[in-house]
Amino acid sequence: MIRLDKYIADAAGLTRSEAGKAIRSGAVAVDGTVLRKPERKIDEAAAAVSLNGMPCVWRRFRYYLLDKPAGLITASRDRTRETVLDLFPPEIRKTDIAPVGRLDKDTSGLLLLTNDGEFAHRVISPKYEVPKVYRAAVEHPLEPEDPERFRSGLVLADGTACLPAELEILDACECLVTVREGKYHQVRRMLASVGKPVLTLRRLSVGPLRVEPGPGAGRWRELTEEELCMMFKLLGMEK
Ligand code: URA
Repeated sequence: MIRLDKYIADAAGLTRSEAGKAIRSGAVAVDGTVLRKPERKIDEAAAAVSLNGMPCVWRRFRYYLLDKPAGLITASRDRTRETVLDLFPPEIRKTDIAPVGRLDKDTSGLLLLTNDGEFAHRVISPKYEVPKVYRAAVEHPLEPEDPERFRSGLVLADGTACLPAELEILDACECLVTVREGKYHQVRRMLASVGKPVLTLRRLSVGPLRVEPGPGAGRWRELTEEELCMMFKLLGMEK
């Protein structure tokens, strides 16, 4: 059971006080009856709720996939700089979604956002071994020994040891890198440690989720039921 104002706020992307106003004004009906008390408790799983005559469905968690363009910072808010949340409309920005892990300002590609803390934790944690694939353009030609260096676990300039990763050479100065952990600037630092500073970096996939190869278009969407099922299975979570 949850309070009606919380239900409306979560479902419609309103603040609690906006939801309270809507309820008191008679805009909200539950199972066909107008309710005017924001504090009323309803069964969120069973109640049929409408706001201004339109069905209004409560979901505890939301999951979004964003194709992040380079140039934005991965944060929920920043006083001066544009963040990935600025690409979303106000009703979504007002909810408590946050980026899952971090892409550098200059990195483009697949970024998940959710208010499901356990899901976010499992996507990031090396324990769940979720593969993240990056496409990198590097300054100097890749060498035939580079894939083996990545496979055997690199040690970064500051002594940080990385888990075994994969490097696939696509072209003289282009490669795919697959990692299952998320250390600070990890892919850039891994490539720098074998003498190949990164020019551009784009995350193409997280587990079964993908974005198109082109530049990050700033487009976002909710994960589909099918994608969510695949992710929950991969993360060993109940849906
Ligand atoms: N590794 C990096 O170096 N940067 C990113 O944004 C993501 C992974």
